Order: sequence, then structure tokens, then C-alpha cells
Amino acid sequence: MMCAKNIDWSNLGFGYVKTDWRYVSNYKDGQWDDGTLTGNETIVMNECAGVLQYAQTCFEGLKAYTTSDGRIVCFRPDLNAERMIDSCERMEMPAFPKERFLEAVKKTVAANREWVPPYGSGASLYLRPYMFGSNPVIGVKPASEYQFRVFATPVGPYFKGGVRPLTVRISDFDRAAPRGTGHIKAGLNYAMSLHAIVDAHEKGFDENVYLDPGTRTYIEETGGANILFVTKDGKVVTPKSSSILPSITRRSLVQVAADYLGLTVEERPVSLSELESFAECGLCGTAAVISPVGKIVDHGKEICLPSGMEDMGPVTKKLYDTLRGIQMGTVPAPEGWIMEIE
Ligand code: PLP
Ligand code: COI
Repeated sequence: MMCAKNIDWSNLGFGYVKTDWRYVSNYKDGQWDDGTLTGNETIVMNECAGVLQYAQTCFEGLKAYTTSDGRIVCFRPDLNAERMIDSCERMEMPAFPKERFLEAVKKTVAANREWVPPYGSGASLYLRPYMFGSNPVIGVKPASEYQFRVFATPVGPYFKGGVRPLTVRISDFDRAAPRGTGHIKAGLNYAMSLHAIVDAHEKGFDENVYLDPGTRTYIEETGGANILFVTKDGKVVTPKSSSILPSITRRSLVQVAADYLGLTVEERPVSLSELESFAECGLCGTAAVISPVGKIVDHGKEICLPSGMEDMGPVTKKLYDTLRGIQMGTVPAPEGWIMEIE
């Protein structure tokens, strides 16, 4: 077994654990430096840094896994690199080139290989690439200096209690604006959701389901994951909207549903009034994987999914097992989905 760290992998939650190495590269005078690994987890910056004053920051999230045959792999990191470039463009930040992003991920995982949880533990090594404006900015404008980093932290399930059906509520708050930043991974979207998630937890809900901010009649996504539904006749339905984060997990599951499971998939607006007609619901994302939803509460009205509060629905389970299998090397992956770490 490669992993030497003394960690109870099977009981890890989704939290920060300091690992040995992180990657850092600085942008100044219009270019990125060569980048390096560092053991130093702290950052010292000017009090007026763009990120501190005007939240000029974006991030990504992906995982490294140990496969059944002991390799270490990442799942579709090229899509994280591309999405981060999209985030940077919208946030007036300099893109970190795709090839360099992949190199940074490889180096970070390789340097922390003892922190990659073993196959079968249910845990994985979460990677957090991010970028922020680092030089002083007081007028409202983009910074001219930036730092790109990737750190790694071993994680277990995102939702407390592991894989059990969740109870979510329809939120009265919005996480995004029409024509805003909902479609990119800007830190500000998550700042927007903090009050809503604290309030949801206080009231006993696991997550917020956000509606389209323009009309508040369509289902969008949750604070940290996209949503998939399964109809009573076994079709997979997932909301389409310009203010949803294009989840790599969701895009992959749509392909898995069609190509591996032979299911019909509909990507289209999903209205609030349709919720009662679905058989299954799941939240999908890197952190969430596919977390089954058992109950959706819409202002006191309880919509109980027929799949119940005990287990994942049968279609959700098939999607979960196939995706997990692809990530763990027990199901053949589509070309280009798996990047091996040497
Ligand atoms: N939606 C939001 C708001 C997220 O924060 C995330 C997490 O990255 C996702 C969806 C899922 O995206 P992905 O599958 O690319 O991790
Ligand atoms: C991820 O799934 O990688 C995310 O960034 C979601 C976040 C809420 C942890």
C-alpha cells in the first residue's frame, strides 16, 4: 500500500488536512513565473490585495483516486483547467494555461502521494486549484499581480453521515444573478450562499436548492452541486440554465447514462411544479459524487421522492456505481477521462 500516513481513511469527513506539498506560481508584469512546489501552507500578502478588498478569486475542485490495481489517477482534469480559464476570463484574471494546470496537478499529487487514500476506503485526495489578485487595489479594478496555487487534502463524503438520502429545501435566497457569475467558479458565489446554508442547517436541511434568479420558477442547482432527476419512466432529466455551474460530474453522468446505461437524457429547464412527478433525485459534483435526495421541502410542502429516505434510487445507484467504477479503474473509461499520475 502506497499510503503511509496514519489516518483513519474510512472515517474522514470533508475537511482541510494539511498535506506536505502545494504548488505555487506568481503572475507579475504580464507573465506567470515557472512555478514550484512549496512546503509552506501560509500566504503573506498586502492588506489591500484585490482578493481581500473585492473578492477577485476563483477556484476548482477535483480528486485523485487510488485505482483497484494501485495506480493514482485524476478524473478529467482537462475540464477543470478549461473551466478555470472561463472563470478567469469572466473575473478579469489572467488564464493559467491548460498544460501548466495539468502539470501543477500532477506535481501536487505526486509530491503528496502518501496522502492519496487507499482503494476501497471511500476517501480520495481532493485538489483545490485556485487563483487570487494579490497586489494592492483600492479603486474598483482588476489586480495586476496574481497567485495560482494547488493544494491537496484527503477527504471523505461531503455530506455528514456519508451516503444517505438528503433533505433539501427550496431556498428563498439566490446564489447567482441573471447574467451574473453563476456559470463560473468564483469565490463570490460561495460567499453569497453562506447565509443561506447556515440558515438551512439551522432548520435541519442538508442543502439549498436554488431557483433561476430571473423568474424563480425553474430549478437550478444547489450551493455545491448540480441536480439530476429520474422520471418514473426511467429518463434522466437535468436542468439547463446559463446561471448553473457546468459540473464536470454532471456532464460525465449524462454521457454515462446515455452510453453505458442506454438511458434517455433530457437537458432542459425543469420547472418547480414538475418536482412531484420525479422518481429519484441526486446532487452531483466532485465533492458530492452523487448524493441521493429523499425529500425536497418547498415552503412547508414536503415532496418525498418515491426512492425514500433509506437508500439511493435504482437508477441513481447505477449511475453512481458506473461513475465510481470508471474513476476506480473497474469499469473501462471513455478515451481521455483518466489522467494517471506517475
Ligand atoms: N455546482 C456548484 C455550485 C459547485 O460548487 C460544484 C462543485 O464543483 C458543482 C456544481 C459540481 O461541479 P463538478 O462536478 O465539476 O465538481
Ligand atoms: C467541488 O465539488 O469540488 C466543489 O467545489 C464544491 C464545494 C461546495 C466543495
